[in-house]
Amino acid sequence: MIALNTSAVAWVLFAVITIGWISYFFLNQLSARRELGSEVEMAPNRKPYYDDEVLEGRRLERMQVLGVLLLITLVVGLPLYWAFEPSRQAGAVSGQQERFRWWGEELFKPTAELGFNCSGCHGGMEAPGGQAPYAVTDPNTGELKTVNWYAPALNTVFYRYSKEEVRFILNYGRSFSPMPAWGALGGGPMTEQNIETLLVYLESIQLAPESCATDKNFTATADPSICEGGVLPQADRGSIQASVDAYLAANPGASEGEALFNLELASGAYSCARCHTSGWSYGQPGVPGQGAFGWNLTGGATNAHFPSEQDMITFIKAGSSNGKKYGMQGQGTGRMPGFGHLLTDEQIKAIVEYVRSL
Ligand code: HEC
Ligand code: HEC
Repeated sequence: MIALNTSAVAWVLFAVITIGWISYFFLNQLSARRELGSEVEMAPNRKPYYDDEVLEGRRLERMQVLGVLLLITLVVGLPLYWAFEPSRQAGAVSGQQERFRWWGEELFKPTAELGFNCSGCHGGMEAPGGQAPYAVTDPNTGELKTVNWYAPALNTVFYRYSKEEVRFILNYGRSFSPMPAWGALGGGPMTEQNIETLLVYLESIQLAPESCATDKNFTATADPSICEGGVLPQADRGSIQASVDAYLAANPGASEGEALFNLELASGAYSCARCHTSGWSYGQPGVPGQGAFGWNLTGGATNAHFPSEQDMITFIKAGSSNGKKYGMQGQGTGRMPGFGHLLTDEQIKAIVEYVRSL
C-alpha cells in the first residue's frame, strides 16, 4: 500500500516538474522573441533595480529563511526516510500476507456468501468439525444410502500435516468422500494462487498451543513446535478426555488406547478410526482398524512392519512423509497425519499398545 502511494506521488511530482520546465522553456522563447530589437520598452539591464535598503534587508532575509528551510528539510527528511525505510519494506511483506489471508477467508466462506463453502462442511474456524451429506453404495447389496460424512476440524490441520501435505489434500481432495478436488491439478476450480491464499488463511486460524507465550506469533508460522512442546490448548485436550470417558462408559472393560483410537465424532479430528475403520466417518463403523483410507492395522501385518514398539510410537508422533522410510520397510506418502502435537506421549503409548493387540 505504502509503496504504491510513494510511487504514485513520485510520478505526479515528475509530471508536474516536466510540464513546468516545458512551459517555462516555451514562455521564455516567446518573451525573448517579442523583445528582440524593440526600443519601445527600456532594455532590462537599464531598468532601475531594488535599492540597497531592500536588497540587503527584506529580500536578503527572505532568501536566508528559504535556505534554512531547505536545510532543515534535508537534515530532518533524509534521516527520517532512512529510519522508516526498513519498516516500510517489512510492512509491504506483511501487507501481502494479510491480503492473502483475506482472500483465503473469502474462499473459505459459505456458498451464500460467495465462497467455496469450506466452512459449510467443516464448520467455522471455532467449530470442532462438521458433517456433509453423501451417498455411499453398499458393496455387498449394491444398495445406495445417504449418510452424513464427518469433515474434520481445520483449526488443527497444521498440527497434523505440513503445508505441502495440506496443499496436496486441497489440490486432489479425498475422492472417496464428500471432500472434492479443489486445485486445477486435481480437476478442481481453483488456481495455484487460490490454493496458496487458502493455505495462508488456514494457517491464521490454527489454535495457538497452550505453551505459546503471547509474544510469539504462532499463527504467522503455523508451526506448533515453535512453542516449547507445542501441545494443544486445554479446552481441546479436555474435549478429547470427555470423548474417552464417554467411550469407556459405553464400553466397560475397554482400554484407554481403544477409546482414543475410536474417539467420538465430537473430537473426531484426533481419532485414528476416521481413516483406519471403514464407515466410522458416517456413524456405521465396521471392524475397528480393519482399514479404509488408512491401512488395515489388524492381523499382524502392521506389527511386522514395526517389530519395535518404539518405532511405531515414533511413526505415529511424526506421521508419514512423502517418500520417507518408516518402520522396517515402509515408505510413506504423507497422508498419515502426525499426532505428536495433538496427543500426549502417554496417550500415544496407550494407542500403540491397542494397535499392537489388534
Ligand atoms: C462438501 C463438503 C466439503 C467441502 C465443501 C469441503 N470439504 Fe474438506 N473435507 C470434507 C470431508 C468429508 C473430509 C474428510 C474426508 C475423509 O474422511 O478423509 C474433508 C477433508 C479435508 C481436509 C483433510 C483434513 C484431515 O485432517 O484429514 C482438509 C485439509 C480439507 N478438507 C480442507 C477443505 C477446504 C480448505 C475446503 C474449502 C475449499 C474444503 N475442505 C471444502 C468435506 C468438505
Ligand atoms: C487422515 C487419515 C489417517 C488418520 C487420521 C490416521 N491414519 Fe494411520 N495411516 C493413514 C495412511 C494413509 C497410512 C498409509 C501410510 C502412508 O500413506 O503414508 C497410514 C498408516 C498407518 C500405520 C502403518 C501401517 C503399516 O502397516 O505400515 C500405522 C501403524 C497407523 N497408520 C496408525 C495410526 C494411528 C494409531 C492413528 C491414530 C493415532 C492413525 N493411524 C490415524 C491414514 C491415517
